[in-house]
Amino acid sequence: MPETITITDDRTGKQITVPITDGVFPASAVRELDPSLYIYDPAYMQTAACKSSITYLDGENGILRYRGYPIEQLASKSTYLEVAYLLLNGELPDAAQLAMWKHEVTNHTYIHENMRKRFVDGFHYDAHPMGMFVSSLAALGTFYNDAKDIDDKASRDKQILRLIAKTPTLASMAYRFSAGLPFVYPDNDLSFPGNFLNMMWKIGEYNIDPRLERAMDVLFILHADHEQNCGTTAMRVVGSSHADPYTSAAAAASALYGPLHGGANEAVVRMLTDIGHIDNVPAFIEEVKGGKGSRLMGFGHRVYKNYDPRATIIKKTAYDVFEVTGKNPLLDIALKLEETALSDPYFVDRKLYPNVDFYSGLIYQAMGFPVSMFTVLFAIPRTVGWLAHWQELLADKDQKISRPRQWYTGVEARDYIPMTSR
Ligand code: ACO
Repeated sequence: MPETITITDDRTGKQITVPITDGVFPASAVRELDPSLYIYDPAYMQTAACKSSITYLDGENGILRYRGYPIEQLASKSTYLEVAYLLLNGELPDAAQLAMWKHEVTNHTYIHENMRKRFVDGFHYDAHPMGMFVSSLAALGTFYNDAKDIDDKASRDKQILRLIAKTPTLASMAYRFSAGLPFVYPDNDLSFPGNFLNMMWKIGEYNIDPRLERAMDVLFILHADHEQNCGTTAMRVVGSSHADPYTSAAAAASALYGPLHGGANEAVVRMLTDIGHIDNVPAFIEEVKGGKGSRLMGFGHRVYKNYDPRATIIKKTAYDVFEVTGKNPLLDIALKLEETALSDPYFVDRKLYPNVDFYSGLIYQAMGFPVSMFTVLFAIPRTVGWLAHWQELLADKDQKISRPRQWYTGVEARDYIPMTSR
């Protein structure tokens, strides 16, 4: 028996029955009932804004899959570039396709000299790297006027390649500028994460520990996509106006910059540093519960009402990294916080568990990244997720320019009173 929902308008007695498919029913039912009737859904809590076949997320059971593949398997067996191919194309590449994809990405890592000399060098000396990254993404689009041709598949593919290849270069450039270090050009003989780490830290020959290179790749895989999060929604909303992908990605990166989204990993390390010692954890938790202090950063999620599966993998990766770097002294505070929160009814009742950001910052810090780079590290791999959604959006015949309505709560019409009469 097909599932349906029947909505009755008690004002008119009109009734409409529509099918429920995969737990979703079309809002057009409301339009059919009465075109001037709207659904009030701030923050889109109950709204499926699009159809998507990229990422599956079951928040109740802590499940995350890219194109059907469990995140746990991809994180342990795949690479970021293979995952990027999967997200964009829907299927895993064969050996020849993967080799070609890697070759193409590594041949687009360089950025125009004017980006560095004229644009990035113009930032204030203490500019935040994420602010630099956001604006560099938008500026990059001005170097490729063919990006405007979003109806041409060849052009779209080229911009996608450019964006994936150049984000590590932009990210390392933002860091080196903020640290007053000379720019390091990409080395196309290295792996994707290896090239990024080399551009970040290069002093002499390439000497990054392969375990750190792998950890970076795992973190890139885990952050590659996460269905309709705030940043991806920004990408889709701006992309729906047919803006070019650089401008749309800059909007997505701006959303990611916020402390309630990608900025949370930065906030976690600042919070752990402020707590200072495990003995201070109980008092901190009480402050959070009393609403006096901040929230417990790195905890809670709009969709996960269970352990974020990425947090489980990241926690394990943290120990792999600490084997090379030595333990991050903030780890003990994080473990104590997690233990305390997970046994406290406040957090248990609200289904608040560690999210992806709770342990990632500790890894980044142990690897030597300054706190201000954390969100940039998130943005590099998330670029592929944004682009996969952008591609999907443009191919979706149901999509139009994003244009929600509002519930107007302002004053009714009134006559303007000239200043002299007020
Ligand atoms: N610490 C303390 N209390 C919390 C937390 C937290 N981290 N998160 C939610 N709550 C409480 C809220 O106060 C609220 O309690 P109430 O019902 O008594 O008022 C309840 O849990 C529900 O919270 P909402 O804000 O309604 O949940 P929402 O789904 O809107 O927020 C969010 C999700 C923004 C992630 C939130 O949990 C949060 O602020 N977490 C901390 C920031 C963070 O870690 N962000 C990263 C998210 S992952 C990512 O973006 C990659």
